[in-house]
Amino acid sequence: MIENSKMPTHVGIIMDGNGRFAKERNLPRSLGHQEGAKNLKELLYHIYDMNLKYVSLFAFSTENFEREEKEVRFLMDLFVTLFKKELKTLKDLGVKVVFSGRKEPLPERVWEAMMDLVDATKEGTKGILNICLNYGGQYEIVDMTKKIAEKVLEGQIKIEDITKELVEKNLYQNLPPLDLIIRTSGEQRISNFMIYQAAYAEYYFTDTYFPAFKAKDFDEALIAYQNRNRRFGKNETKELSGNE
Ligand code: FPP
Repeated sequence: MIENSKMPTHVGIIMDGNGRFAKERNLPRSLGHQEGAKNLKELLYHIYDMNLKYVSLFAFSTENFEREEKEVRFLMDLFVTLFKKELKTLKDLGVKVVFSGRKEPLPERVWEAMMDLVDATKEGTKGILNICLNYGGQYEIVDMTKKIAEKVLEGQIKIEDITKELVEKNLYQNLPPLDLIIRTSGEQRISNFMIYQAAYAEYYFTDTYFPAFKAKDFDEALIAYQNRNRRFGKNETKELSGNE
């Protein structure tokens, strides 16, 4: 049973296995992505319905640009279509959408759809949806370092002012640390996903491909998380914190 007092504040999902889901059914990879997108919508309804506040999604990594041109183009078009189509849904849900990642080399049409979605949902108070798109965790640390170095060079801050809090303020988004990271499709690695924010996250790996990862599977991940002992490097067990 899910315990409301032990809900994670921030959940990350590495949505993997769209391609294999399609392949197993003799369908093109593009259909796998479409099924993944359909599933994501259902999952997000479920997640925000249970009052989870922060969700981060790995939608497209910087390395994904090295995939076949046809697949990259399909995914970019899918993002534009979805961001336009679901803008009202997300706004009505009260979810504020933010993005993490680099602008270049995203096509202009994708960037514009992203910015429209951010703008339309900026008043949302029910939850935050952080979409990692053209994202790499190591690049996020590089970009944070550049921002801070510029501030030092411009004399806005001194070296002594560089603290953990300042580092966190200069990441793509200043979000609470990840409590739980779910990766679908059987791979047991983190693949450069929010490596700073994942420092003390609990990991949950499942063999299920993302398009088949349903609300009940998400609940199983939550229950597994709630049964873990989080010690944050200390001896005593820290009580799982309640939702903010
Ligand atoms: C990984 O599966 C999935 C992706 C690279 C794309 C994820 C995108 C969606 C689920 C579409 C909707 C998302 C948003 C945020 C609007 P894969 O292609 O690596 O699968 P494989 O490992 O089986 O080949």
